Amino acid sequence: MERQAKQLVMALKPWETLLFPFLFFSVIAAGSHEDPTKRTMEEFSGYVFHPSHSIFSLPPVDKESLQNQIDELSTFSDTPAPSVTRILYTENDVLARRYIKGLMGQAGLSVHEDAVGNIFGRWNGSDPELGAVATGSHIDAIPYSGKYDGVVGVLGALEAINVLKRAGFQPKRSLEVILFTSEEPTRFGISCLGSRLLAGSEALVHVLKESVDDQNTSFFDAARSAGYAISQENLSNVMLKKGSYFAFLELHIEQGPLLEEEGVSIGIVTAIAAPASIKVEFEGNGGHAGAVLMPERNDAGLAAAELALAVEKHVLETGSVDTVGTVGIIVLHPGAINSIPSKSHVEIDTRDIDEKRRDAVIEKIHQSSIEVSRRRGVKLSEFRIVNQDPPAKSEHSIINAMEDVVQQLNLSHKLMISRAYHDSLFMARVSPMGMIFIPCYKGYSHKPEEYASIVDIANGVNVLALTLAKLSLD
Ligand SMILES: *[C@@H]1O[C@H](CO)[C@@H](O)[C@H](O)[C@H]1NC(C)=O
Ligand SMILES: *[C@@H]1O[C@H](CO)[C@@H](O)[C@H](O)[C@H]1NC(C)=O
Ligand SMILES: *[C@@H]1O[C@H](CO)[C@@H](O)[C@H](O)[C@H]1NC(C)=O
Ligand SMILES: *[C@@H]1O[C@H](CO)[C@@H](O)[C@H](O)[C@H]1NC(C)=O
Ligand SMILES: [Zn+2]
Repeated sequence: MERQAKQLVMALKPWETLLFPFLFFSVIAAGSHEDPTKRTMEEFSGYVFHPSHSIFSLPPVDKESLQNQIDELSTFSDTPAPSVTRILYTENDVLARRYIKGLMGQAGLSVHEDAVGNIFGRWNGSDPELGAVATGSHIDAIPYSGKYDGVVGVLGALEAINVLKRAGFQPKRSLEVILFTSEEPTRFGISCLGSRLLAGSEALVHVLKESVDDQNTSFFDAARSAGYAISQENLSNVMLKKGSYFAFLELHIEQGPLLEEEGVSIGIVTAIAAPASIKVEFEGNGGHAGAVLMPERNDAGLAAAELALAVEKHVLETGSVDTVGTVGIIVLHPGAINSIPSKSHVEIDTRDIDEKRRDAVIEKIHQSSIEVSRRRGVKLSEFRIVNQDPPAKSEHSIINAMEDVVQQLNLSHKLMISRAYHDSLFMARVSPMGMIFIPCYKGYSHKPEEYASIVDIANGVNVLALTLAKLSLD
């Protein structure tokens, strides 16, 4: 029995025992009191084995160099530290991209870029014909934001690769780190530009042809100035074929307070809520705030106010905490204290993880807009759904793989939904998807106070590394 156990364990490479703790555990249980398997494994791998964990420890995350990389990347910014501003195709964006490509090269990855600057660093698997397992995020930053949003999912992914390389791991499916172009909508008003195009959005191709920034620079001119010599024909080459990836994972700060408040190390995302945004305009009659009597008025401002309350009502009526709606913009014309608003402009954001439920809310908001305009005698001059992305669900098998890994690492975790959206929302259209959240200080994001501790980041890197390894052998 002892001999059999030894042979079985010898047949496994060290990283295989990481991935088959139950198998390994049963081997130990069958062994003698002296636990020959332990000695064998330590001799074999050089890594310390903790019987209580029933796994090998991964080589440690290099916390110091990971923190240094996060700090260094944050210096590629248009605003002074601690704020970070890194806008698509600006000089600092180009320098930051160069920095990441350098790190990919140092990690031994084969680097390539597509026409819009999505960057791919690939570690060829032993069976490169199989769909790859990919992970990644973004490094662009809205004005005066912080240094962790997105960055943790790019630099953390590279460290996960480095950890696996130090462990002597050999992937079967290729592993790939992706840097997505422009997750933030800052420059051209398009969020998740890179991943949206990878996921095959024809609508985006049309929009990009017309897109200019606030300096009237076209998308294509901006891309060219960053060294991407593209024209319209190149855009369709960016789109991925279905099946390109076996799985896609993204490591990200939570951008909400729950993990920190509850003292939980890892959030496993089960679904990503998706936003729809709506623009509404009412046109009534203006007039003097003193002279026009109340029964004579067709106040476009009050129509906007009523609609805002209707949005709240329809959202609450769903009875679901996952349904949210926000009226973030109301602009009144002419905007003077003594003038009845003759026009109003309302922008509404509504989100849910359930597409049908969200779309039902949108329909009710539309009905309310019509009803309010009739009752108040104002014209509903515009009701436009600007975008209506479908939410995404994480793949069950990926959630299960992550839960196994989190247990092996003895980390506390919870299942949660992502109320913010990410590149994963779009990658889910072309690949099974899963996301890992780590705590961040008070849930702050998109401001300079954004912070995640290197210990929490390292936990996320470990979960990512082992999940990548597991899936690459699947
Ligand atoms: C765009 O397409 C042209 C023509 O096919 C090609 O020469 C060029 O290299 C492409 N540019 C990029 C950035 O892929
Ligand atoms: C990975 O495979 C690609 C395609 O076969 C090849 O071009 C590249 O050089 C390989 N990379 C490494 C690091 O071996
Ligand atoms: C923006 O640029 C286009 C093309 O160069 C030009 O036709 C248009 O007049 C410009 N618009 C503004 C507002 O400058
Ligand atoms: C797992 O974590 C818990 C809580 O942090 C701790 O009490 C326990 O000792 C850990 N178990 C192992 C095997 O490390
Ligand atoms: Zn992000």
